[in-house]
Amino acid sequence: MADAVKPLSLVVLISGRGSNLQAILDAIQAGKLRTSVKAVISTRVDASGLVNAQRANIDTLALDPGDYPVREDYDRALRGLIDGFQPDLVALAGFMRILTPGFVQHYRGRLINIHPSLLPALRGLNTHQRALDRGLREHGASVHFVTEELDGGPVIIQVRVPVLAGDTAESLAARVLSQEHRLYVEALHLLAEKRVYWDGQQLMYNQQPLHQPLLMDPEQPN
Ligand code: GRF
Repeated sequence: MADAVKPLSLVVLISGRGSNLQAILDAIQAGKLRTSVKAVISTRVDASGLVNAQRANIDTLALDPGDYPVREDYDRALRGLIDGFQPDLVALAGFMRILTPGFVQHYRGRLINIHPSLLPALRGLNTHQRALDRGLREHGASVHFVTEELDGGPVIIQVRVPVLAGDTAESLAARVLSQEHRLYVEALHLLAEKRVYWDGQQLMYNQQPLHQPLLMDPEQPN
């Protein structure tokens, strides 16, 4: 029973700007999200997201991949840092690194990511330019559980963003990003309320198997 009232604890992994992290912190601050961020860990010591986390009195750490020539060693060190905080969930928010299978397996069902596309479309980088190059009329963002397959894990929730005439990669990215902020908060809300979970086999929503990602209304306030 105690578990039902305990806020979901998070460690957030970033590499740069940290605007999704900031959206999460704002939602917590506004009392809209029953989660607590235990720590923010960055691949870069100069990530601006770290400054925002420090301002919110959250523990911050930087782990430089340059210090770890062997990828597995980096992930082992990262895992050691994360597990020191004993989070319920690890949230990737602009974390620009591919994680090793051992790391991903360790956090199976407890590791989520936000990706700027309507997965399974446009996995990988430069999604906004690729959406334009393909002449897509609809783009968006997804929050998904992380598996060994890049951007390939079960998708919890998505938001659709129309591609407008005259869009550039920058204008499209900006419109998607403002929806990402709402989407990540909504996904965390569902997880914090235990309405969504993934046991590594079947994604569940309200105690039922979820076969299609949930869709967030882009107009709906969080
Ligand atoms: C976002 O577009 C996110 O979807 C992608 O990296 C970007 C990070 O932005 N994975 P920010 O650091 O949260 O501002």
